[in-house]
Amino acid sequence: MNSQAHGSVHVRSTNERFKFQSQFQCAEAIVEIDDEHDLVYKRRIEKRYRVKEIDERIRKERTKNEAKLISEARRSGVPTPIIFDVNEYEHEIVMEKIEGTIARDIIDADISERIGEFVGVLHKNNIIHGDLITSNIIVGTDKNKNKNKNKNKSIYFIDFGLAFIDSSTEARGVDIHVFFQILKSTHESHEQLKESFITGYKRTFPGAAAQVLKRIDEIDRRGRYVER
Ligand SMILES: Nc1ncnc2c1ncn2[C@@H]1O[C@H](COP(=O)(O)OP(=O)(O)O)[C@@H](O)[C@H]1O
Ligand SMILES: [Mg+2]
Repeated sequence: MNSQAHGSVHVRSTNERFKFQSQFQCAEAIVEIDDEHDLVYKRRIEKRYRVKEIDERIRKERTKNEAKLISEARRSGVPTPIIFDVNEYEHEIVMEKIEGTIARDIIDADISERIGEFVGVLHKNNIIHGDLITSNIIVGTDKNKNKNKNKNKSIYFIDFGLAFIDSSTEARGVDIHVFFQILKSTHESHEQLKESFITGYKRTFPGAAAQVLKRIDEIDRRGRYVER
């Protein structure tokens, strides 16, 4: 198999896989990072416990869905990787590699506020991320800008595998509730990070913020009731 040229993008052939410098594997996908060409390959792997035809269909649909929503988010003004190629038969997305650090490792009040702003933009465009955890947000290291200032760092959202279109308060509330839960479990200063996020969200989505925040409190109470 020859490698194909997609514009200026180098798309590798199977026998070039050894070139990958790093690889992540979760339950659903293998993510391979090609540092040489600044590309990321995300491939959904077979789940043998599913009937083969159903598994094929699920992987194809999720691959298409993820690529579509990554692009849609980007069009609405939220930074996401550029999609270079979608191979629904190989269940693979080829996208831009984002240089940076996952938000989990460097989040502070300023970054959290800007995450809130972007989530507000997503929700305003009826996009629900579906897995809003701090390892699905990359704080980019921009080469041309002032490296010491957080304000000049771009915030990118990745992993739209569970994303969907929805304009309900419930979907928005659940989306943010996931983010608050992960802050609580990983950061001591979670209350402050939460407040900063809310400040950002209110700024970009003032029309829905009050309703959504009220719903998050309800979801929180529901969750606690279930835990007992
Ligand atoms: N476009 C990208 N640029 C840089 N790193 C990425 C990119 N996409 C994924 N990664 C890295 O791979 C990890 C897993 O990718 P992700 O899309 O979140 O898949 P999963 O569904 O397995 O969580 C991310 O947490 C991140 O560290
Ligand atoms: Mg992820």
